[in-house]
Order: sequence, then C-alpha cells, then structure tokens
Amino acid sequence: MRLEQILFTQGFGTRHECKGLIVNGHVTINQTVVEDPKSDFDVNGLIFSVDGVNWPYVEKAIIAMNKPAGYECSRKPLHHPSVLSLLPAPLRNRGVQPVGRLDEDTTGLLILTDDGALIHRLTHPKKHVSKIYRVTAKHAMTQEMFRRLLEGVMLDGEREKVAADDLVQIDDHVFEMQITQGKYHQVKRMVAAVGNRVSALHRVALGNYHLPDDLTASKWRFIRREELI
Ligand code: URA
Repeated sequence: MRLEQILFTQGFGTRHECKGLIVNGHVTINQTVVEDPKSDFDVNGLIFSVDGVNWPYVEKAIIAMNKPAGYECSRKPLHHPSVLSLLPAPLRNRGVQPVGRLDEDTTGLLILTDDGALIHRLTHPKKHVSKIYRVTAKHAMTQEMFRRLLEGVMLDGEREKVAADDLVQIDDHVFEMQITQGKYHQVKRMVAAVGNRVSALHRVALGNYHLPDDLTASKWRFIRREELI
C-alpha cells in the first residue's frame, strides 16, 4: 500500500495532510525517513513512526483501555470529558468508539474499536458475551443477597428476571459478578434490587479479555481480536 494511503487509513488526516506529513519528513519506517508519499509498503506487521511515535498498521483498531472515573463513554459527553479524549487524534479520527457503555463513575476495562461488525458481535443481546465486574457494596453482602442475584431479580422496565452467571465473594463488601446481558446500569440495579447499594464498580473482563495489571488507569493499548472473542 502507498505510504500516503497507509497514513490516511490510520487516521492521520486528509489525503493532503498525510502527503504533507510525508514530504516534510515526519514519517519514518525502520528508522529511515521516507519522503515519497507514493512509496509502497507491505502493511502486514508494518510499524511506522510519525514524529517519533510508533504505530502498528491495523486494518481495524481494537483498543483496551482502563477507564478512569470521571469520564463519559459518549461521543458528546454532557458533564464530564469523553473517554475518547484519552486517545490520540489518529484513533479518534478513524472513528474508534466504545463497545457498550460504562457509567461515568465506573472504572476498568473498556474496549473501543472502529470495527462495526465487532461492536455488533460484542453487544448483541443474543450473543451473551460475558462481562465480569468487581463490585464494592455499601453494606456487607449476605448469602441471601448472593442467592437472589444468582436466582435472578426483576428490574424496573424489564419483562424477565436478570441473573448473575457467576459470583465470587472477595470479602464482606467486595465480590466479582459475571453477567452476560448489558442492560442500562445493570449491576447497580441488580445490587439495589437485593437491598444493597454499589459504592464502586470496576470491570475486570469482557469476553476472553482480562484487564492486565500493568494497564493502569487512563492507559490504553492495541489488542488482537483473538484475545477478545
Ligand atoms: N452496570 C452498571 O450499573 N454500570 C456500569 O457502568 C456497568 C454495568
């Protein structure tokens, strides 16, 4: 693929802007400045560098982010900055968007991508993609509360009970809950339905992907589809 096309597909601006970056010496491949916008490269496994920052060529970008509190998942946030503001411009330009939403005060694993088919695969209710949340409850959790979460609870506006697929107690107030639906404020509403209240919520996994320990709050990285689903 021509270098100008590579930059264009990876979100580095208009065709004209991409050409400008190349002819003005901003782009290197294998530590060599490439100034010819028409030079051809095999995109398979290609790493290119713009102003000293390395980028892998990816046909579709899949990003794992450790979402901090105080950010909204919406493109047009109302009260807080958007999680998209934590990403560099090329990723925003190519239309990367969050897969589902985490509340403003929820932290942890957020997947973002520009692959519409992948968003559909991960969010369609019939696909039952697993999500694991670490929940901190305001009051100590009782065995009765856990039993009811596993059995299923009625939430306002839903026609059927929603149940946790798995629960792992960590201490009196903290547990991990696996769910496969993705209803609005689902975890908070389920915990409220059994008579407790979520005081902190952190997503630790989505599909097969677990938030790595070294991906600290606000950090992001490219991941492969095979790691996810
Ligand atoms: N459930 C919630 O209540 N909030 C989230 O952010 C995610 C799941």
